[in-house]
Amino acid sequence: MTPSQLNMRKIKVAVVGATGVAGQQFLASLASHPFFEVVALAASARSAGKAYAEALTSDTGARQWFDAEPLAPAFARMKVQDAGRLDPSGFDLVFAAVESDAARELEPRFAQAVPVISTASAFRYEDDVPIFIPGVNMEHAGLIEVQRRNRGWRGFITPVPNCTTMGLAMTLKPLLAAFGVRQAIMTSMQACSGAGRTPGVMGLDILDNVIPYIPKEEEKVQRETQKILGQWVQNRLEPAAFPVSATCTRVPVLDGHTEAVYVSLDRPASVEEVKAVFRQFGADFGALGLPSNPVRLIEVTDDPFRPQPRRDRDNGNGMATTVGRVRLDPALANGIKYVLVSHNTRMGAAKGAILVAEYLVHQGLI
Ligand SMILES: NC(=O)c1ccc[n+]([C@@H]2O[C@H](COP(=O)([O-])OP(=O)(O)OC[C@H]3O[C@@H](n4cnc5c(N)ncnc54)[C@H](OP(=O)(O)O)[C@@H]3O)[C@@H](O)[C@H]2O)c1
Repeated sequence: MTPSQLNMRKIKVAVVGATGVAGQQFLASLASHPFFEVVALAASARSAGKAYAEALTSDTGARQWFDAEPLAPAFARMKVQDAGRLDPSGFDLVFAAVESDAARELEPRFAQAVPVISTASAFRYEDDVPIFIPGVNMEHAGLIEVQRRNRGWRGFITPVPNCTTMGLAMTLKPLLAAFGVRQAIMTSMQACSGAGRTPGVMGLDILDNVIPYIPKEEEKVQRETQKILGQWVQNRLEPAAFPVSATCTRVPVLDGHTEAVYVSLDRPASVEEVKAVFRQFGADFGALGLPSNPVRLIEVTDDPFRPQPRRDRDNGNGMATTVGRVRLDPALANGIKYVLVSHNTRMGAAKGAILVAEYLVHQGLI
């Protein structure tokens, strides 16, 4: 689908937090996007006033651009603005990728005027704020109107989930729809890039090691999964009632979160039935033809040594969740278990946010 098919001009966007891990992914994905044109870059006062390439250059001269795609020269030359002073009258949409404290201050100011699609957790748990996962809960878009009314904003805030919630909720959704879910238990092995760069993970702490605790992460995954898998009834979002239990760990992997998931289903299902519902999931959403959507939202592998973060995180251009090792679980009622890999900075952050924005454009909400 192209803007001319949608009969529209390109939508002018600002990327806030443009110098960070998720912000760089936004720029890498927006360099030649058919719907969106980046017209403003913003970050903290530390970067403000510098050309983007200069803001990425450390005191030692190192150019801290981390994406595999080269930095587009047009972005390299753009001046970074102070996010606290950014004037929203110059653009139609904000992609925001700042830490939660900064998001709490900045995002409402932008949302008074324009939609804000955010990777931060600041507003995820508020009753009138949807947390979209492409293809999973787009019917929650009804909350956008509720939020606008409640807050008197022309725009709105819609965050994407925590990068660890992404793969879990994506794979639980087809199981919930087909078999019902009684409980879900998950242990993550999360990549270092998920911690961002301020302060990020110290090499000396993570090499040759596993860190068994990521502050606030488990609560986020549990709460967000229930909200995302909740039902939209009578202009209200009813969170899913089944319990979710998470243990989140950090491992010495660059990108791509791995999760071992155990699910008790409402009714028994065979391994083949489970694989079939994973494989079929997302066909309706795919039929919309949105530019960032992968061919399949969930890829299923029968290789018992997959998925692996190094080999599977880029499936579907980093937008597919890869599931393998689907087995029956003898310890849970109607139990099944599997391992998934999901790319934390692509579907789990910037590119997932861009796909949400594409959907909202398609629906006329942006
Ligand atoms: N990394 C991931 O895989 C991932 C996945 C999902 C969600 N997220 C979420 O995305 C957000 C950004 O994470 P990240 O990993 O990209 O962090 P990061 O690498 O540390 O980058 C933080 C960005 O925020 C800017 N910033 C810091 N304080 C600011 C302020 N007061 N005002 C305006 N801008 C400010 C920084 O600008 P300067 O360079 O000028 O300091 C930088 O551009 C977080 O909320 C995180 O939880 C990250």
